[in-house]
Amino acid sequence: MNIEELQAYHKHITDTYDQRSGNHDNSQWHRETALKLIDGIPPGSGNSILDIGTGTGTIAFHVASLAGPDGKVTGVDLSRGMLCEANKKLADSEFNNIEFVLADAEQLAFANNVFDRIYCASAFFCILDPLSTLRQWHGLLKPGGILGFHAQPETSYYWIREARKVFTRHGYPYLINNATGSIEKSEQLLAESGFNKVDIRVEESGYYMPAEQARDSWIDESDFFPGQYPHPVTNVPPEIMMQCKQQYESNIEKLITEKGIWNDISMYYIYAYK
Ligand SMILES: C[S@@+](CC[C@H](N)C(=O)[O-])C[C@H]1O[C@@H](n2cnc3c(N)ncnc32)[C@H](O)[C@@H]1O
Repeated sequence: MNIEELQAYHKHITDTYDQRSGNHDNSQWHRETALKLIDGIPPGSGNSILDIGTGTGTIAFHVASLAGPDGKVTGVDLSRGMLCEANKKLADSEFNNIEFVLADAEQLAFANNVFDRIYCASAFFCILDPLSTLRQWHGLLKPGGILGFHAQPETSYYWIREARKVFTRHGYPYLINNATGSIEKSEQLLAESGFNKVDIRVEESGYYMPAEQARDSWIDESDFFPGQYPHPVTNVPPEIMMQCKQQYESNIEKLITEKGIWNDISMYYIYAYK
């Protein structure tokens, strides 16, 4: 990927999250899953902690209180809007051991072997190059340090799963959640990244979406699409696109029950040890 493409991808991400920044703290789901990631393996007192894709700092504030006054927390994010919300909360707080930094999670400028814990909640699906990024994060951890992050099975979100099936059948890559899409893939990726032990906890969940919404779920180029650039449909010729859409709609129709369509939003809570 050249620099212009990377900038365009980052603009896609920051436009989306700048726009969501004012409401992000209203999402109970994000808050609960972020705090659960920390509960799985909390930091110790005095730890040095990096929160990647910190957003409005949910994890950063929580781990700062756990690490205590001798701990140090750095939250990084690409979205100025998110960091602005995080900094407003910081200014209103008593914490003096947190800092928020505008940075790309895939190109971090920290020294190696400095963090006891790295957390990344609900942001890994935005990473373009999972292997090189995880190698870099592995380098940033001290020996014995632990990375905790969320990933989602490739079977989650019915519209992504079904679109992936039809596009890959026609030879067009559809990468979101691919690298960490199963327990086996996640374990292999983390082993290749240098981690020597991996603990993956699966939390199964989902709900029924109304049939009408499912019938209207076909993607287009203007949809938010993290983890791949250009957008996966950009280079698909119109006649193939038409076939994919027909196959997609037929697959969706077969999955609809009287309750609607099952939308799996299961999560992997992944802890990787250096
Ligand atoms: C869904 S939000 C999650 C925020 C927070 N971790 C939480 O759980 O509340 C995803 C965040 O990841 C950030 N992000 C996405 N790609 C990034 C990248 N390459 N570098 C840094 N931050 C990134 C977005 O700007 C956004 O704030």
